[in-house]
Amino acid sequence: MIATGKTELSKGTRPDGATNEADASRKVREMFTQIAPRYDLLNHLLSLQLDRVWRARTARKLRTILQRPDAVVLDLCCGTGDLAFALKKKGRARVIGADFAHTMLVRANEKSAADLGAAIPFLESDALQLPFADASFDLVTAAFGFRNLANYEAGLREMQRVLKPSGTIGILEFTEPPAGLFGDFYRWYFRKILPRVGGAISGDAAAYKYLPSSVARFFRPEELCDLMRTVGLQNVEAAVWTGGTVALHTGVKSVGLSGRPAPANISFQSSSQ
Ligand SMILES: C[S@@+](CC[C@H](N)C(=O)[O-])C[C@H]1O[C@@H](n2cnc3c(N)ncnc32)[C@H](O)[C@@H]1O
Repeated sequence: MIATGKTELSKGTRPDGATNEADASRKVREMFTQIAPRYDLLNHLLSLQLDRVWRARTARKLRTILQRPDAVVLDLCCGTGDLAFALKKKGRARVIGADFAHTMLVRANEKSAADLGAAIPFLESDALQLPFADASFDLVTAAFGFRNLANYEAGLREMQRVLKPSGTIGILEFTEPPAGLFGDFYRWYFRKILPRVGGAISGDAAAYKYLPSSVARFFRPEELCDLMRTVGLQNVEAAVWTGGTVALHTGVKSVGLSGRPAPANISFQSSSQ
């Protein structure tokens, strides 16, 4: 059990009706598969374009690694690829994206092929069972995807396994602002307006109800930092932005930590379609 103030509920995401981890993962995958065609539009619209600012700021914070030509970066839960593109544009590092929703990767590949100045390989794989050897990456990131994992501790351990010693993890996530005028307005918008607009445009009301409820159930930044320390990460910190609505959590893999072996039965599956 995770050593935070939260209950068993915080072990991993549980979309409505999901009774176990496998069920939760399946529902999350189906949901993103369904909303992929409208995902980017709604991201930019519902965040008033702030999602672009948050990803650019994340890339800026991590630029020391990104500017190294020898660095290899994995963007997990990459969806349609926007963080991967922002990371790639910031420097000379090699960037790879991975996600388990095929239709999100189709869109990522279309964007990669279009003139975005960054050809990035996107792989179809589950963040909880990555098809990479131990100590493969200098940086592992996830933007707005970690919260959707069915087991947070397992997710962190898997991220850490594929990270080189002294490598960095960067998790960008929504968080809930404190009570007060702005916090109360934000909650009204996030819980009442966003699900209606998102549901109407995407045609999937449940997906845009899931967003605020999953954020409400998710760790506060200090709780996620505690979990990151629990799995052995060092120099853990959270930078909280935009009135307490998002946070970038970072941590470094200890030099002494070796990972467990990569799963043998998982094969690379490049999603070019
Ligand atoms: C909210 S989207 C974020 C996409 C992108 N990172 C961005 O910034 O827009 C969450 C993504 O996480 C992916 N995801 C959730 N759980 C996953 C898992 N276990 N393995 C791989 N991808 C996962 C979903 O398929 C979805 O594309």
